[in-house]
Amino acid sequence: MSISVNAVTKKYGNQFALNNVNIEIKPGEIVGFLGPNGAGKSTMMKILTGYIPQTSGKAFVCGFDVEEDPIAVKKRIGYLPEHNPQYTEMYVKEYLSFCAGLFHVKNKKARIAEMIQLVGLQKEQHKIIDSLSKGYRQRVGLAQALLHNPEVLILDEPTTGLDPNQVVEIRNLIKDTGKEKTVMMSTHIMQEVEAVCDRVIIINRGEIVADKPIAELRKLSKSSEVIEVQFSAPPDIEKMKQIKGVNRITTVNDTVYRVETDADIKISPKLVQFAIDNDLEINKLQTEEQNIEDVFRKLTS
Ligand SMILES: Nc1ncnc2c1ncn2[C@@H]1O[C@H](COP(=O)(O)OP(=O)(O)O)[C@@H](O)[C@H]1O
Ligand SMILES: [Mg+2]
Repeated sequence: MSISVNAVTKKYGNQFALNNVNIEIKPGEIVGFLGPNGAGKSTMMKILTGYIPQTSGKAFVCGFDVEEDPIAVKKRIGYLPEHNPQYTEMYVKEYLSFCAGLFHVKNKKARIAEMIQLVGLQKEQHKIIDSLSKGYRQRVGLAQALLHNPEVLILDEPTTGLDPNQVVEIRNLIKDTGKEKTVMMSTHIMQEVEAVCDRVIIINRGEIVADKPIAELRKLSKSSEVIEVQFSAPPDIEKMKQIKGVNRITTVNDTVYRVETDADIKISPKLVQFAIDNDLEINKLQTEEQNIEDVFRKLTS
């Protein structure tokens, strides 16, 4: 395994930022680590990269224990922390040279030139970091993470705060560079996971709530259906709940209801029958498309 997390818990004071988290990531996988703000994504990544210790449990990168073998772990990890902290008064090349020094990179000059080429920084390579746009700073961050040719990339919200064009560019860059590496990338955007990753791990309030290949998550999103129905007068909700296949009913207003159902049971005819049986007319019946975003919201709300 490239990454292996066994029953890791992290407490800040009394608060559980991570509660008994288990994660396995195989070599070559690109995994999206998805969750709302405050879910524990950065905390997990800081533990994996050896920046903070866990309270209990064990974490391994390429088989090395993050607590017992931190240097071996850091050699194998490229880390782009949240908010991409950099020495902004340094020049791009100067900064990359400094980072390469920290990792004892051999043939420093050639390697830096290679990275500049790879992330598309040719035109900005002689500029001071402070003068770069956020998108280009993120490229510098990626170059920094890749310098020592690590097996594993840990990227903490690499596209947050970028404009839409920059987001696409950075996503493509991650996809390309990720071809030969294991990537764990955090985000709070479901579409991003769909665009870049093979698999998604969803975390909410410090606990893993889903761990699935993207294709399976897509299937899950098709396994339920929402119908909005409007009656001529308020129906008996309790009776309506008895209809086979109905999972949940929420009231929009006096006569309009959202009915959540299993997708494999066709509910519309049953709602029509229900209306007839109860002397009601149906004014509107509309099926809403469920998407993968809805699955995320359901799992984390
Ligand atoms: N250094 C800290 N001290 C106390 N609480 C913290 C600290 N860092 C994070 N937390 C709390 O832990 C929880 C998880 O935070 P974090 O891992 O940053 O979430 P995410 O990256 O998913 O937004 C949050 O409730 C946050 O407020
Ligand atoms: Mg975070």
